[in-house]
Amino acid sequence: SLIRILNGPNLNLLGQREPEIYGRATLADVERACRALGTDLGLDVSFDQTNHEGQIVDWVQESRGVAAGIIINPAALTHTSVAVLDALNMFDGPVIELHISQVHKRESFRQHSYVSQRADAVMAGFGVQGYELALRHMAHLLG
Ligand code: DQA
Repeated sequence: SLIRILNGPNLNLLGQREPEIYGRATLADVERACRALGTDLGLDVSFDQTNHEGQIVDWVQESRGVAAGIIINPAALTHTSVAVLDALNMFDGPVIELHISQVHKRESFRQHSYVSQRADAVMAGFGVQGYELALRHMAHLLG
């Protein structure tokens, strides 16, 4: 089965972006690790990033009937986007929301997530290792 891993705004600069918060690994490093683990788990993994809200909406819509599950780091859209939530609400499979940083010990505006209204599981503060942990949990959910 296909698992879509979707990444929102500014995650293209992972590794350069506030490394004290997000670490030194790049998004390409994360993608490589997820693809390798996907192979081990027998899952097809697609991995995408965009800085544009509508692109995330399009990708979530296109996942309907195609992907078994979605792992999403909506980045700043987590805290702002009803559109991303609405799109996820039309997707049938498991949804895992992922944040590299521990958003609950950061600024108050990061404490609320629209996406959490839909997510079956939420991870925060596991660093980039969270992506692999989320993928393992997805394999478990899909049995
Ligand atoms: C983030 C946390 C968000 O608050 C922030 O806007 C991001 C990244 C994380 O992975 O920790 O861009 O989703």
